[in-house]
Amino acid sequence: MQFKTIIEPFRVKTVEPIHHTTREHRLQAIEKAGYNPFLLKAEDVLIDLLTDSGTGAMSSRQWAGMMLGDESYAGARSFYKFEAAVHKITNFKHIMPTHQGRAAERILFGTLLKAGDIVINNTHFDTTRANIEITGAIGLDLPIDEAHQPKTYHPFKGNMNLDKLEQALNEHGAAVRMVMMTVTNNSGGGQPVSMANIRAVSQIAHRHGVPFFIDACRFAENAWFIKMREEGYAHKTPLEIAQEMFSYADGATMSAKKDGMANIGGFLAMNDDDLAMQCKNMEILGEGFPTYGGLAGYDLEAIAVGLEEALNPDYLRYRIRSIEYLGERMKQSGIPFIEPTGGHAVYIDARALLPHIPWNDYPAWALSLALYIEGGIRSVEIGSVMFGRQPDGSEKPAAMELVRMAFPRRMYTQSHVDYLAEVLDYIKEISPRIRGVRLVEEPPVLRHFTSRFAPVQGSILI
Ligand code: F0G
Repeated sequence: MQFKTIIEPFRVKTVEPIHHTTREHRLQAIEKAGYNPFLLKAEDVLIDLLTDSGTGAMSSRQWAGMMLGDESYAGARSFYKFEAAVHKITNFKHIMPTHQGRAAERILFGTLLKAGDIVINNTHFDTTRANIEITGAIGLDLPIDEAHQPKTYHPFKGNMNLDKLEQALNEHGAAVRMVMMTVTNNSGGGQPVSMANIRAVSQIAHRHGVPFFIDACRFAENAWFIKMREEGYAHKTPLEIAQEMFSYADGATMSAKKDGMANIGGFLAMNDDDLAMQCKNMEILGEGFPTYGGLAGYDLEAIAVGLEEALNPDYLRYRIRSIEYLGERMKQSGIPFIEPTGGHAVYIDARALLPHIPWNDYPAWALSLALYIEGGIRSVEIGSVMFGRQPDGSEKPAAMELVRMAFPRRMYTQSHVDYLAEVLDYIKEISPRIRGVRLVEEPPVLRHFTSRFAPVQGSILI
């Protein structure tokens, strides 16, 4: 191409206003929310980077598809369209829609696991881990060492440590009931996994007689990184790459709220007939009949179209580039983040930016609050609040203290990102004045969603 500027490959047809608020207003709002960004009202947020999950803009084709939704209880036309779209990419035999990703996890792990069992993953996402632990089983994270070194460049920082995988399988034997790969590795920085690593993990798991599943939430973004960075894939389409990724697996869990480009939905897919039958029975119990699985027919239509759009090369080029662009701006300003930037988000390294805040005053949580108070930006902590509480009740520091700024798909433009970069410059300037928080109220599981906090020194900024 003659011109190198990468543009948003769409034009806007419907707009939704967003509003500036005053700093005073935001201070009151966050105090009322117990210093927990999850408890804010969305209208008090200017740019919402809490998550890329279910928050994106759907295309005109998706909205048009929704009008074709068949709302039959069983055997709806929309289900077969959905099933064909998933089958084309994954080639799995049994495909069960679910209302979102964690429902697929609950059905799978509720069926498969008992107390003392082990699931191995590059890094479990929080709901994945919680759905494993609630059965009494254990989730073991085995990422490569580079995954925990924010400044070290590695093209596939989401990879699993193959030696440790082999070791764990030898050591724990039949207790290991499943090996999983999260693509891209969300909790580890949205980092991709290479095809070579997926292939090797699959071979090792199968040699030990253990099924291998993919947590496929961001499979299309992962496919793009393989195309860009792995030898032998430059000329393949994202679809072909995704098909190869899934060909090594026995099944997948998926949140269609990410690379399904939908506002709700997900699926559980697998080849094993017996396991699928048990899972379908579980699904009927909690989600609904297996041809709708907690979704409306029109949701199934939106996902069927969305899965195809997520693999569009123009879209993926823009998507990955827009994240990289923010990373470049932050690098110029000397704001520490996980490098290289991943697929759906930029992860600020709060431990490096706020070295004066001890881990148990939750530096990343405090940074996320500062971003909201100063710039109206909502982000999410991925650190010791999210991961600190252990199943035995003790608390320990998370491997990293990160603030994730996740980008809804096809929603914000470059000027939103430029504004964000300016806010981040200011945050860096005032960073020595930022102080931590302590917990004042905490639920027994997944505490980050509903805990309430108070600033340790009476204020986030002194
Ligand atoms: N697995 C991964 C890797 C995820 O990122 C998520 C959700 C899930 C499973 C669960 O899917 O939300 O549809 O039930 N991640 C969102 C996030 C919530 O913000 O990263 P779900």
